[in-house]
Amino acid sequence: MTGVVPGPPPHRWLGRRGNAHAYAADPVRYTARLHHDFGPVSGLVRGDRRQVFVFGADHNRTVLTDGDVFHTVLEYAIPARIRAARRGIGLLNMNGPDHRAARHTVTPSFRPQAIGQHADLIARLAAAEVDSWTPGQPFDLGASMRRLTLRIACLCFFGVDIADGADEIGRMVQQMLALRYFASSIRYFPFDLPGAPYRRLLRVIRRLDDALAAIIDARRGGGQTSDLLQSLLADRDEHGRGLTDDQLVGQLTTLLVAGHETSSSTLAWTLLLLSQHRPELNEVLSDLDGRSPQECAGSPVLDRVLKETLRLLPPGPNTARIAVAPTTVGGHEIPAWCQVITSKYATHRDPAVFAEPLRFRPERWHTATPSRYEYLPYGVGPHVCIGAAFADLEMKIVLGTILRRHVLLPVPGAVISRQVGLLMSPKGPVPVVAHPAHAVPPARDRVDGDLNEMVDLYGEQRWRLGW
Ligand code: HEM
Repeated sequence: MTGVVPGPPPHRWLGRRGNAHAYAADPVRYTARLHHDFGPVSGLVRGDRRQVFVFGADHNRTVLTDGDVFHTVLEYAIPARIRAARRGIGLLNMNGPDHRAARHTVTPSFRPQAIGQHADLIARLAAAEVDSWTPGQPFDLGASMRRLTLRIACLCFFGVDIADGADEIGRMVQQMLALRYFASSIRYFPFDLPGAPYRRLLRVIRRLDDALAAIIDARRGGGQTSDLLQSLLADRDEHGRGLTDDQLVGQLTTLLVAGHETSSSTLAWTLLLLSQHRPELNEVLSDLDGRSPQECAGSPVLDRVLKETLRLLPPGPNTARIAVAPTTVGGHEIPAWCQVITSKYATHRDPAVFAEPLRFRPERWHTATPSRYEYLPYGVGPHVCIGAAFADLEMKIVLGTILRRHVLLPVPGAVISRQVGLLMSPKGPVPVVAHPAHAVPPARDRVDGDLNEMVDLYGEQRWRLGW
């Protein structure tokens, strides 16, 4: 057994808390530094066995596939009173036999045949979003993609249209995401007091749960539609049991949260990366020419482009688990209740698997055949993304709808950086202008910001976050 877990020294004044703060402030940078400086296993600080980072395909396999020893952190990290206030929990908060049973019941609703029926609706909503842009006028691409994917999710999942933000559910989901369970103001001040963010989160969660319960209740009373809720209501396990209302509320909330910001940030990153890579953009445009938006889902060129975006900028850069029993990883002892963190972000940049790892090269996917532990944007193991086929269909139809009409170019001087909480997305406003796809200005305005650290956009190796 290997001795002390390597890692950086504790912060000079704040000790381990200082390191924890640096990690929370920018998980991507902190993790990349650990990997670069200390190799495949590193503590948050040297010798730390409360939070251990493990890198590489082998460790991904060990940690992510053994759901009996390594549990999802969400089951433990959400403050107890917030958990108690919830009607039900979703897949991401469950472990062990409960998770297996729920997953078994929910899976049929996500099979490709069940998902294909949403294609027309997705295409219609994407076209409506594109219609709302004024060509030549800057707009915020991040906000536009979030609005669109939330609208798609609400309509495809339970038949509610949140157009124009007029709908209560859309507002509540946005408020819930803005208040984040893990925000310091909630974690370190968990008091149900007037004005406290914790109280606002509790209230919005209860209201959202009640609104979803009312939708489920109404649907049980009749009314056939072909959304995901209808299919979840019909799902039965081998004993003929369906999901209860509270279980449905839990699953729907998780679907809303897991299923819209992931897609919206991938859409925004893809359009930004294409704007900086003209040959790749032109290849996409000529492949989409003549396809309907729904047919864009079958475009092999879009497929390679999306794979490459998800390689470089996976929406969930790190995946954490809690070891519920003592174990070992990479020859290091891991005690029970240690948080073990794996990194897709680091794994996807292994030069032994992906030549020139920091370049955006969709053509590599003509020949690249990484294992499922070397390339895992949708995760691997018992919690692997249940919505991957939906996300793939949605993103290709949305990209097809946009790119058949417009190319989006960042405004001159745009600063494009990351924001990392539970998920990684473009930070703040992402100002772009829509140009007709047949008349794209020849000059490319370079973008500034830490996107340049994550992707070697201009072949200059200005990056610091790779190795
Ligand atoms: C670009 C799009 C997406 C990416 C990259 C993505 C990625 C992931 C990843 C990495 C996980 C595993 C998390 C873990 O191991 O802890 C996951 C789980 C999950 N995803 Fe996605 N996701 C995407 C879109 C979606 C969509 C559209 C939906 C819903 C339709 C969805 C629903 C879920 C659910 C319910 C889980 C939890 C599964 C479980 O715990 O058993 N995701 N996703």
